[in-house]
Amino acid sequence: MRKYKILSECEMKKHSEYIEKVRTMNLNSGVDKYAYIQTFGCQQNVADSERIAGMCEAMGYTVCDTPDVADIIVVNTCAIREHAEKRALSIIGQFKHLKAKKPSLIIAVCGCMVAQEHRRNDIKFRYPYVDFIFGASSLFRLPQLIVERVQKQKRLYCPEEKEYLVAEGMPVRRESNFKAWVSVMYGCNNFCTYCIVPYVRGRERSRRPEDIISEVGELVFAGYKDITLLGQNVNSYGKDAIGDDGETYDFADLLSDIDKIEGDYYIRFMTSHPKDASKKLIDVMASSKHIAHQFHLPMQSGSDEVLKKMNRRYDTERYMGIVEYMREKMPDVTISSDIIVGFPGETEEDFQGTLDMLSRVRFDMTYSFIYSPRNGTPAAKMEDQIDDKIKSERFDRLLELQNRIAYEKNQPLFGTVQKVLCDGRSKNNENVFSGRTEGNKIVLFEGNDSDTGKFLNIKITRADTFALYGEKLN
Ligand code: SAH
Ligand code: SF4
Ligand code: F3S
Repeated sequence: MRKYKILSECEMKKHSEYIEKVRTMNLNSGVDKYAYIQTFGCQQNVADSERIAGMCEAMGYTVCDTPDVADIIVVNTCAIREHAEKRALSIIGQFKHLKAKKPSLIIAVCGCMVAQEHRRNDIKFRYPYVDFIFGASSLFRLPQLIVERVQKQKRLYCPEEKEYLVAEGMPVRRESNFKAWVSVMYGCNNFCTYCIVPYVRGRERSRRPEDIISEVGELVFAGYKDITLLGQNVNSYGKDAIGDDGETYDFADLLSDIDKIEGDYYIRFMTSHPKDASKKLIDVMASSKHIAHQFHLPMQSGSDEVLKKMNRRYDTERYMGIVEYMREKMPDVTISSDIIVGFPGETEEDFQGTLDMLSRVRFDMTYSFIYSPRNGTPAAKMEDQIDDKIKSERFDRLLELQNRIAYEKNQPLFGTVQKVLCDGRSKNNENVFSGRTEGNKIVLFEGNDSDTGKFLNIKITRADTFALYGEKLN
């Protein structure tokens, strides 16, 4: 039985009527209307913002890339670390003068940061020019909130939903026409002691397999080549929807069904939790046609003691076991990870354990974070918070080791020919083109604008720490 509600077609129709209302209001105004969306946080938020942009377009706004001309600004926030919240608050602060210039401007704040009571109060009292707030599970309410804001002429606070909801069929405006994000589930049940996500995103809700498979099928049909399935812990997909007969349809089943879709495309997924990464999942990947041999498997720490305090529910041996099985079944797999340094009570010996695991596993890449206490999480109240100086010194040592490993791991690719999906001109250097290998490694090369969105064969002529360099063969 599913423990959450999927909005019925009838309820979605009600929300479509609000879209129509705003569209009519915008048309009747006789001037062009613009929407600006600013996104912080993870890919889940990026995917949510594509729905927000889709709704804005359906409401008659043109999505633009500067706030100066906007008639509505939506700030989609993140709460994962203090830095993310500070950046969002600072941007919201900068929009004050725009509202002063154009009083009809609507400013809305949504996402994880404003799912926290104290941040909602911050917005209420310190940012009085913000028109309304809504949570990540209430995205579909945006058109309704705009209508109410305009009609009632007062600020609104969309209450947290009483039940967990999943809305299907929302309009979407995708950033790319060859790379796409597809959420397979929302929320998280894991309550890692450092993490705010379960408090701001609610319990796990898996989308129905048929909805996901048809979305991926449509994307492949439309020419998408790189599709990433998203969830905070994709390995628990389906566990919230076990049938009355005890039958489960898990993430490996979903991947295996998606893999049957014909076409030239890669499927990726993130994020996997080591506690439920199964052999079945790895076997499906190894024998599939379309699932990229790339695995993001956050380890967080290489100390069993710290892992226990983090409530991660695996130890370093279990972690190594998954890595070994993966490499046995897919010798070409690239593995990346997330690491937190400076978790409360982390001793020099614990930290050494993390460095040792880096040397044992030899990740292709890691994303490292300095522990940031989050209001309301158990770790924030733990004694022995680590001094900032020690945290940043450990962080530097970690990076130094990982950079060396990443450089060494890239060397065997020298001289090989890689199938690379061209992303277009590099953001750092307009004269160079950038793309990704199956393992998601960055490759830089000389190309043409017509290469964008295409698979190319690139011969690797130099392998560096953060990128490969090569020559186009076709
Ligand atoms: N659901 C995913 C990732 C969630 S957030 C997972 O379980 O792996 C992405 C990363 O942010 C986490 O993997 C963790 O390394 C980091 N992170 C989460 N909370 C943090 C905090 N309070 N301080 C520092 N890093 C944190
Ligand atoms: Fe946070 Fe842990 Fe859930 Fe990931 S699995 S979102 S780190 S609580
Ligand atoms: Fe941030 Fe929310 Fe993602 S807290 S990392 S945007 S789930």
